[in-house]
Amino acid sequence: MRRFYAWSRSADAPIVAAVVCNGRTIGALALAMAALACRKSGADCIPPPAVLTCPEAGSPSFATDVLPKVFYPVCDDCHAPGKVESGHPLTDYQEIYGPTSGPSAASEANAIFTQVFENCSMPPSNAPMPFDDDERQILLDWFACGAPDSPPLDAGSGD
Ligand code: HEC
Repeated sequence: MRRFYAWSRSADAPIVAAVVCNGRTIGALALAMAALACRKSGADCIPPPAVLTCPEAGSPSFATDVLPKVFYPVCDDCHAPGKVESGHPLTDYQEIYGPTSGPSAASEANAIFTQVFENCSMPPSNAPMPFDDDERQILLDWFACGAPDSPPLDAGSGD
């Protein structure tokens, strides 16, 4: 029922090495590194916990939590068609997560994790909407559960 994602990155630090949805840990080492990276950045950037746990209740829904409560209000002033980062829209799952297999699988999700939790550079300090704790937690929980689509990709509409 839940997916297992092996994420890897080409360069830099190997960040989230594995996300185990029904397990207890997700890339503990990676998150420790993320915590270190966060510390040298903005004052209001709080490092994520060393161990991420997918909530008992399950992943936040992409369609009803992540998109409307995080990406729309916080990111899409810039990451949407016609905006400054229109080349990297955060307006639907496929834009964000990309292909589900092959070399670029999850690349955008990895980029989001890096920018938000490792580099703490997104949202930028000049963003019109700051990132509040609830929004950040939704995003973190979503990653902890393997950044699933909703409805699941398996039930999606063709490739
Ligand atoms: C005020 C405008 C603004 C907001 C709000 C904003 N971004 Fe960005 N984002 C940018 C710009 C400009 C770049 C490209 C330059 C850079 O990397 O700093 C960028 C780059 C990125 C990248 C790397 C490029 C890519 O897509 O692969 C990611 C990932 C990203 N942003 C995620 C987010 C997320 C997630 C949020 C919301 C939590 C967010 N951004 C909010 C302006 C914004």
